[in-house]
Formats: sequence, C-alpha cells, structure tokens
Amino acid sequence: QKGLQVAIDGPASAGKSTVAKIVAQRFSYVYVDTGAMYRTVTLVALQAGVDLTDEERVLQLLEQTQITFQPGEPVQHVFANQHEVTEAIRSELVTNNVSTVAALPKIREALVDRQQEIARAGGVVMDGRDIGTTVLPDAEVKIFLVASVKQRAERRYLENQAKGITTSLVDLQAEIAERDYKDSHRAVSPLQRAADAVEIDTTTLSIEQVVNQIAELIQEKL
Ligand code: C5P
Repeated sequence: QKGLQVAIDGPASAGKSTVAKIVAQRFSYVYVDTGAMYRTVTLVALQAGVDLTDEERVLQLLEQTQITFQPGEPVQHVFANQHEVTEAIRSELVTNNVSTVAALPKIREALVDRQQEIARAGGVVMDGRDIGTTVLPDAEVKIFLVASVKQRAERRYLENQAKGITTSLVDLQAEIAERDYKDSHRAVSPLQRAADAVEIDTTTLSIEQVVNQIAELIQEKL
C-alpha cells in the first residue's frame, strides 16, 4: 500500500501541527512542519544580526543551515546544524518576524525544494500555508483548517501560559491577524485554500474530531 501525500494548510494557530502530527502517527507517515523551517531560518538570521529583508544574505545563511527533525512529545524536536532550536523558534520575536522572511521568494524556493524532496516517497503529512497549492499540488488529500481569530488567540494564550509568556489576549489577536494578513497578501504563494482542498472549521471541534475527519478522507483514498 503506497503512502499518500496529505497537505494541511491554514492560518496561524488553527491547530494544524497538533492535528497533523496525530494523523501522521495514526498512518505511520512522516510529519513535516514546514512552519518550523521558516521559523528556523528566521531565528538563524536574527541571531546573525542580518537584515531580514536582505534576501541574498538570508539565503546564504539558509544554504549553510541543515534543518532536521526528530520525533518527540508533545512536539517534535527541531535542529539547525545539530543545534536544538525547538523552543527558540517559538519565541515571540521569531513569531512576529517570520512572515517577513517567508515573503522572500528565494527563501521560499529553497525551502519548497527541501519539502518536495522529503515528500517524494509519499507517506507524508505536511502542514503549512502553501502545501496544497505549491509544494504538493498533486497531494491525494488536501485539508484547509480554519478557526475564528478569537479562538486561535485563546489557544495561543493557553500555550503561552504554560511557557510563562504573558502577552494579553488582545495583543495576541492583533498579532495573529497581522501574521494572517501578511501571509495572505505576499506576492509568492500566499496563504490560500487550494481549489480541491476540503475546508474544516475547527472552532467548535475537538482535536479528536478533526483528526477523525481527516483520517476518513485518507481512508477513502487508500
Ligand atoms: O505554521 P507556523 O505558524 O509555525 O508558520 C510560521 C510562519 O511561516 C507563517 O506565519 C508563514 O509566514 C510561514 N510559512 C509559510 N509557508 C509555509 C509554512 C509557514 O509561509 N508552508
């Protein structure tokens, strides 16, 4: 039985990574968090003190950076050249700057190449913004997850509490709305639902309900 390509896209904090990871486990597929790749290059550029709009310099840094994943609970581990960045890439500074780096066409091109390479063999669940439209246009299953901004801010607020981050709900709503705006309005592969993607509104659904809906769609294609 051939492993399928499953694309899960959607706006910030819609629960993509949580759901994608569980779905991948259920089918013994590889889970690829493409947002973590954009976050890692953003972190590396911030650490190097590079102007985030300097496409050539950021690209140079990316070319010197191997980004790898290792399974882990509750989140997978992310490494930049063997250096663990799992927590660092979730900082507020990275979160609020990643859309700037993700808008650079050459950075997207380089990361899309890496993502397509990982997905070539199939048996992959990939989450991001442009997976169904650009990275894996032939994916057998395409999901577009949405949820209200309010609900997404609340989700982020609870995650932050566990980490000791105290940004207010109002500020989080504004940050999420701004990141969505930037991601949806950039010139190269903006956040967009693929024409053949199934939209799931997670606002009133549990994680398990979302996972089950996606699992059913995968089963239908097997
Ligand atoms: O999914 P996550 O919120 O971690 O993604 C962080 C950022 O990376 C997004 O806000 C977006 O700017 C960028 N991104 C992207 N394309 C993807 C995945 C993420 O542009 N496929």
